[in-house]
Amino acid sequence: MKTVVITGGVSGMGLAATKLFLQKGWQVAMADYNQQLGEQVLATLNSEHLLFVQTDVSQASSVNALKTAVFDRFGHVDSVINNAGIFTKGALHEVAEDAWDRIMAIDVKSVYLTTRAFVPAMIAQRSGTIVNTASVSGLMGDYNMAAYNAAKGALINLVKAMALDYGRYNIRVNNVAPGPTMTPMFAANPQSVIDQFKQASPLGKLAQPEDIARSLFFLASEDSDPITGQTLPVTAGFGLHSGQPVQ
Ligand SMILES: NC(=O)c1ccc[n+]([C@@H]2O[C@H](COP(=O)([O-])OP(=O)(O)OC[C@H]3O[C@@H](n4cnc5c(N)ncnc54)[C@H](O)[C@@H]3O)[C@@H](O)[C@H]2O)c1
Repeated sequence: MKTVVITGGVSGMGLAATKLFLQKGWQVAMADYNQQLGEQVLATLNSEHLLFVQTDVSQASSVNALKTAVFDRFGHVDSVINNAGIFTKGALHEVAEDAWDRIMAIDVKSVYLTTRAFVPAMIAQRSGTIVNTASVSGLMGDYNMAAYNAAKGALINLVKAMALDYGRYNIRVNNVAPGPTMTPMFAANPQSVIDQFKQASPLGKLAQPEDIARSLFFLASEDSDPITGQTLPVTAGFGLHSGQPVQ
């Protein structure tokens, strides 16, 4: 059975991915900071092919413990989905130093830490895929989102470097770049805000977590071979605009 590690796998698009990979017959290790939710998801999905490991993806010791837990249980890894992420608001000078460090650690350093933990086994087996959840906010700037733009923008170039370095080992590395997506966090906005976002989409709708999960699965699976080093926008049309007013 194929094995995937999904960080942030207990909520939002990560949870949708956990369910899809299970449906597709993969073994799934959910790595998430939220112990309570992790145990709840584990109990609800009730699958012998599902593991939850309480993990802080920004801490080397925690990611190394995740590696040990995954290999103890499943013996191998075919794919890592780096999906855990946080958001910080504000123009650059308004971002607190600890908030800047935190978003860089959780959204960017985490990819370094999981790669350091899992890539050696992928190199040894001469196969593997890594998929990161970037964002349309890594492709374009947004008002009052400087730190998030910087963090997600880093992933856009990082996949190219990783794809170059690991291609010779038959390891493919790609990003999904979601637009605004109806995860529980986003759905908690007032209806008027959600409507504003829908109106800004050429399709008149927002992506659903399940839409992002299908693209994560596609890039993790053989169906996407030989795509590597790419960022796939899944945005319902966000990010297409040159900024000119509507005519
Ligand atoms: N929702 C959107 O509109 C949107 C758009 C573009 C990109 N994204 C990105 O998608 C990814 C998933 O977001 P979501 O919307 O599903 O949000 P979410 O908050 O529902 O899920 C994020 C998960 O990451 C976990 N997490 C946070 N910090 C962690 C840490 N240090 N270690 C381990 N786990 C940690 C949280 O516990 C949570 O379960 C994020 O990287 C986010 O930046 C979201």
